[in-house]
Amino acid sequence: MSNIVLIGAQWGDEGKGRITDFLSSKVNMVVRFQGGDNAGHTVIFKGLEFKLHLIPSGILYPDVICVIGNGVVINPQTLISEIENLEKKAVSTENLKISSNCHVIMPYHIALDGASENKLGSSKIGTTKKGIGPVYADKASRTGIRICDLLNPDLFKQKLDDILEIKNAILNKVYDAETFNADKIFEEYTGYAQAIKKYVVESTFLINSALDDNKNILFEGAQGTLLDIDHGTYPFVTSSSTIAGGVFTGAGIGPGRINEVIGITKSYCTRVGSGVFPTEIKDETGNMIREKGNEYGTTTGRARRCGWFDCVIIRYSAMVNNLSSLALTKLDVLSGIEKIKICSSYKIDGSIYENVTPNCLILEKSQPQYIEVNGWDEDITNIKEFEKLPYNAKKYINLIEELTRIPVSLISVGPDRNQIIIRDKYLKKKFF
Ligand code: GDP
Ligand code: IMO
Ligand code: MG
Repeated sequence: MSNIVLIGAQWGDEGKGRITDFLSSKVNMVVRFQGGDNAGHTVIFKGLEFKLHLIPSGILYPDVICVIGNGVVINPQTLISEIENLEKKAVSTENLKISSNCHVIMPYHIALDGASENKLGSSKIGTTKKGIGPVYADKASRTGIRICDLLNPDLFKQKLDDILEIKNAILNKVYDAETFNADKIFEEYTGYAQAIKKYVVESTFLINSALDDNKNILFEGAQGTLLDIDHGTYPFVTSSSTIAGGVFTGAGIGPGRINEVIGITKSYCTRVGSGVFPTEIKDETGNMIREKGNEYGTTTGRARRCGWFDCVIIRYSAMVNNLSSLALTKLDVLSGIEKIKICSSYKIDGSIYENVTPNCLILEKSQPQYIEVNGWDEDITNIKEFEKLPYNAKKYINLIEELTRIPVSLISVGPDRNQIIIRDKYLKKKFF
């Protein structure tokens, strides 16, 4: 059995898409299990760039089955345009499967997300305004509309009429915002249903029977551990379970099925949206990293906040996800920085802590304690072996391993599929 979960170990955008793409050649199935089109996963292969929001990043391999599991929330319009864009680039979506239990993002979810953010003003979450919070709220309130409902016009119409009455009242009376017409939505969404019908399956059976047949499955996380609804920097989080545990509910498999969890982390750290970020760099170095690393959101284009690598955060991620190893991305972005900082612990009210719960009030008063190391100048973007990295780059990685107590199994040195260093001895599944 070789089933792997890949999750973001920071606040998202760690490079999950590119690592999923890289490992996908070695598996039979790739499954997304949470989030929606708030995610933006970039894959670069042979100079072509693919920005995936809903479709698993294994899609570039024609033999890999790509499943959008039940825990994902779907904006059908985004999904259809993503399918069309892939087909335009001659990427087949023949093997795409969508769970009939996925909840559907409706226009009122998007409107409510925007209206709520506007009302919050300076305390806003900084959401992607894709309707993620409102759709997961409806799922929990049992008033959501699922893909299987879209495929049943009578049921869909009835559910839509019932829920829209309430949503329109809220939009109008609470937010003084525009309301929606049920017939128009019905027509538009039954059209979407027809377009995606051929992809819809009972994904829980599909995934479990692949597991029973000893197929290798890769579960691709979206967002990151610190954006988890339960374990992140609440309320500045997304609305799903982004941690490895999310796989069990979001794909419908039992805990014994997983034998490896890889945490993806940048060689530094970024965050987009509001919320506490202890190692944020607010000077010129932060701007330099942003420009060099092209740190602008894949989904919203917003500038990402940049900071130093934070071992307190990674130790926490290692704990809640039971990480077996780390995949360290964007090491090339640090080339040319004279002195690199790494946060080993926090000072809070005069005491030093190596482990801290990511409660905003605690993190806000945390002073990161840094170790400063010498950087390197060499271009590392073509290096394929760890030993060939500059001495100081190896020292930096060794220090990360020592401070987080997690081995680094993969190191990416550029955005292209092949710009990666593999340290096979730290992977449980011997892929290479
Ligand atoms: P995800 O959401 O975790 O999949 O990450 P994103 O795709 O949103 O953001 C990561 C960005 O970094 C993308 O633009 C990738 O093409 C890029 N990237 C990934 N790995 C590397 C790397 O090793 N070096 C450089 N320079 N860019 C990388
Ligand atoms: P990927 O999968 C980075 C952030 C938003 C905001 C918070 C809540 O590409 O790593 P939401 O729209 O989910 O209600 O916004 O979460 N956020 C992400 N940040 N990468 C993502 O996805 C994100 N998805 C949501 O910026 O702070
Ligand atoms: Mg992203």
